[in-house]
This record gives sequence, C-alpha cells and structure tokens, in this order.
Amino acid sequence: MPRMTINDRPVEFDLDPQMPLLYALREAANLTGTKSCGGGDCVGACMVIVDGTALRSCRITLAEAEGRLITTIEGLSRDRSHPMQQAMVAEQAIQCGYCTPGIVIAGAALLDRNSAPTRAEIEDALQNLCRCGVYPRLVRAVQRAGRVIQRRESISAAPAPGIEAADAAQRVPALRAVPEPSDSGD
Ligand code: FES
Ligand code: FES
Repeated sequence: MPRMTINDRPVEFDLDPQMPLLYALREAANLTGTKSCGGGDCVGACMVIVDGTALRSCRITLAEAEGRLITTIEGLSRDRSHPMQQAMVAEQAIQCGYCTPGIVIAGAALLDRNSAPTRAEIEDALQNLCRCGVYPRLVRAVQRAGRVIQRRESISAAPAPGIEAADAAQRVPALRAVPEPSDSGD
C-alpha cells in the first residue's frame, strides 16, 4: 500500500497504486482544495508540491508518489497567511477561483527556489490556464509575494478560514443555526 507524507503527516492509502494521486487526495484524504479539471481543457488546478516541485497530481500515480513529501493547498499555511496566498488576494488575482489553488501552489514552489523571479521566469513556472484571464495580476502577485518573502514589504494577514454556523446565521437572515441534538434525547 503506497505510503507518503502529506502536509507533514505520514499516510498510507489502501487503494490501487495506479490510482492518480489527485483522486486519492480528493476522495480518500478529503483534501478537496486540489481541484480536478474534470475533462476538457486541463488548467493545472490539480497542482501539488512533490519534493519541492509543483506537479499535476492527475499525472502522478500513488505508486509514483510513494515515499515522497507532498504539500497540498491546505498544507501551505494553516490560516491562508502564505505570502503567495496573501498577494493573490491583495492583487485581486482571483475571479471564479477555480484555477487559484494550482496557481498558488505553482507560485509558492517557484518562490521557494527564487524569491525574485523575472516576468519570464514567472510565465515559465505558471503554465496554468486561467479561463478568467487574470494573467497580468498573477505576475504582479508572484512578484509581490517575493517582496514579502524578502521582507521588503508586508501584507496584512488574510482572515482565518471558515465561519461558525451561528455567525453565518447572524449575517444571513434567511439562515437559522440548527442546534446540535443533545445526547440525553430530551
Ligand atoms: S486535472 Fe487538469 S491538469 Fe490535472
Ligand atoms: S480565476 Fe477563474 S479560472 Fe482563473
């Protein structure tokens, strides 16, 4: 059974070793931040970092991932505070967001080896397709994230992910928070 380390946790998949890593991440490990293009044009939304390199997880089998260190978008930071995540928000480089996880992963892997990439280096590293066409903003976001990594600039942290049901209900009048059923049955 293929074993690997995902987001700093050792895991073992009881799955066909020929299964693409993408499906194991999404369906078995519940790491759904890694997107599937679902056929048609592959946009690179499934990228993960494998031993320091951004790769398309749909093109790696579990057998090929055996023993490797894998970082998914969920593992990049616990609170969306990775400079690449912050810069994508600050540069408004997100439209529908479908390509975003793959682009953030590709940008983070690039910045890890080179925190001051040129435009050409960024375009070479980010081969991902964005159907919404945010390319000029992507280049700015990667360069800005690089400046944050070099401590030449700072961006205030993105808000923590998630929202409590009670908070959501307060903000959206049509929602009601349903109380948890009590164990006592009364
Ligand atoms: S699922 Fe489209 S590039 Fe991997
Ligand atoms: S933001 Fe929509 S596909 Fe890139």
